[in-house]
Amino acid sequence: MAQQPHLIDTLDALREAIARYRRVDETVALVPTMGALHKGHLALVQLAAREAQHVVVSIFVNPAQFSPSEDFASYPRDMPADLAALAGLKTDLIWAPNVALMYPTGFATQVIPTGAATVGLEDAFRPHFFTGVATVVTKLLLQCLPDMAVFGEKDYQQLKVVEQIVRDLDIPVRIVGGSTVRAADGLALSSRNAYLSAEQRQVAPTLHRVLALCGEKLAAGHSVGTVLAEGREAIGRVGFELDYLEARHAETLLPIADPARESIRLLAAARLGATRLIDNVGV
Ligand code: PAJ
Repeated sequence: MAQQPHLIDTLDALREAIARYRRVDETVALVPTMGALHKGHLALVQLAAREAQHVVVSIFVNPAQFSPSEDFASYPRDMPADLAALAGLKTDLIWAPNVALMYPTGFATQVIPTGAATVGLEDAFRPHFFTGVATVVTKLLLQCLPDMAVFGEKDYQQLKVVEQIVRDLDIPVRIVGGSTVRAADGLALSSRNAYLSAEQRQVAPTLHRVLALCGEKLAAGHSVGTVLAEGREAIGRVGFELDYLEARHAETLLPIADPARESIRLLAAARLGATRLIDNVGV
């Protein structure tokens, strides 16, 4: 039954609420977010609710994962709208720490992932991003100690980095990936889509269309080099500035050695004006 989620902003209150579930052996799923919730986030909450008896959604715009030139200050924040969106779903707790709680004076520890975080995709364009994500995700997992945490495939490299952190640091949390939710025209839902002009919004779905087409060609056995060259050209032709379009091993994110045998993920990032879009598809 839908219920009003409980908004929590102190660590003691969070731990006490979760301990109450633990005492009666009930399971907990965490869905980390930066708020400005859209249907992609809400699908992860619904997935969490199917997998666990209690759902915690964290809402924290993490300054550590934005570079000084990025949009931390202007990143969309709308707590009333987020609360309203979650009220219709099975969310028990909303964990909304402030920056001083997450990074108090004297905070001096970082989680610096390599492996999937240093394969030359997002990391090549956002050098501090995965250290910021890894540090905050590790903190969120330790604050909540859920049975599982749900992340979207939309941010595929982030999902692989989080899986790696949990494996490497023996954090006893199962990571669950949720599929990407898209608009009817294929554009992956993203809080940053709000920055697109009407004209850019018309062009934006091309990114997914090209990824899907490249995926079909690779599945049909076409050469990786040719498919990527054609895809890069098609993305540039409609007005995107391409950061990357790559075919990678779906687990390690390393370059493909043997396309016939490896499971492949196609990943892309491209800019339309000041807005940077990322997307990916499985092959
Ligand atoms: P945010 O961009 O708010 O995304 C929160 C979660 O929603 C991530 O796991 C992301 O992959 C997922 N998501 C976003 N758009 C989606 C879509 N269209 N379909 C399915 N899932 C989608 O990612 C972050 O926040 C942060 O880096 C965070 C992990 C919270 C750490 O600060």
